[in-house]
Amino acid sequence: MIVWIDGELLPLERARVSPLDHGLTVGDGVFETLRTYRGVPFAWRRHLERLRASAAALGLDVPDGDELRLAADAVLRANRLGDARVRITVTGGPAPPGSSRAPGAGPTTIVVAAPLAPGAPTADVVIAPWTRNEHGALAGLKTISYAANVRALAYAQARGAQEAIFANTAGNLCEATGSNVFLVLDGVLVTPPPSAGCLQGVTRALLLELCDGTCEERDVPIGALATADEAFLSSTTREVQPIAHVDGVALPAAPGPVATRLAAAFAQLVARDLDP
Ligand SMILES: Cc1ncc(COP(=O)(O)O)c(C=O)c1O
Repeated sequence: MIVWIDGELLPLERARVSPLDHGLTVGDGVFETLRTYRGVPFAWRRHLERLRASAAALGLDVPDGDELRLAADAVLRANRLGDARVRITVTGGPAPPGSSRAPGAGPTTIVVAAPLAPGAPTADVVIAPWTRNEHGALAGLKTISYAANVRALAYAQARGAQEAIFANTAGNLCEATGSNVFLVLDGVLVTPPPSAGCLQGVTRALLLELCDGTCEERDVPIGALATADEAFLSSTTREVQPIAHVDGVALPAAPGPVATRLAAAFAQLVARDLDP
């Protein structure tokens, strides 16, 4: 595997991050996961904007967008990847032990890519026994502080499921460990609003645009998921993935008609525009 780190393309074995990097020691950093279609990173502009927004919220510098794009293209070429996931990570850089950043320390920037296997047609989910804090300093930001997601995903996998869904502190539906959630209630498509504490997923935003005002962004109690007519996950790697079971109980349809329609509309979007 060839990776890009702070301006250099290197074999993975030779790439080095300082043991004092603030990303490593305290999870101080942000990231993006993109996927390629036909060898081209999809929705580059939106991912770059979100990376900048997450970094700005943490007070981190991000390298120039053109430099990052050249890095992503170089990594894809060097690894001869077609369908791939690309990950860009930007951390606070080397710092003394402790929570303060080193004054003037530049960010550490890493770009890696790996083959992407086709996603499963449906996912089973469980409700996580932990909440997302919609009032927290990191709410809605794509930071590398993902240990809570790692723990919740392991909780789901230990129960034979592929995703865990978080409620927020108000008991409302928030998001999954690596995806947003949509559900159909009494025939109406609904997804939690950003104020629920969810990440504003790029896929979520594109689906909302494809719905053209017919999807409601509103709070729903976490219990609504198990009573939905249908529900699905959205993310860069899952695209539109119908939810088959919630805590072991089957939803009426997976895929339901709304997921089927939106998955087709999303595929058409990808076919006509790689940077919508
Ligand atoms: C916590 C979380 N929510 C939602 C998403 C979906 O975002 P996107 O559609 O931009 O991939 C992700 C993606 O990784 C995520 O990590």
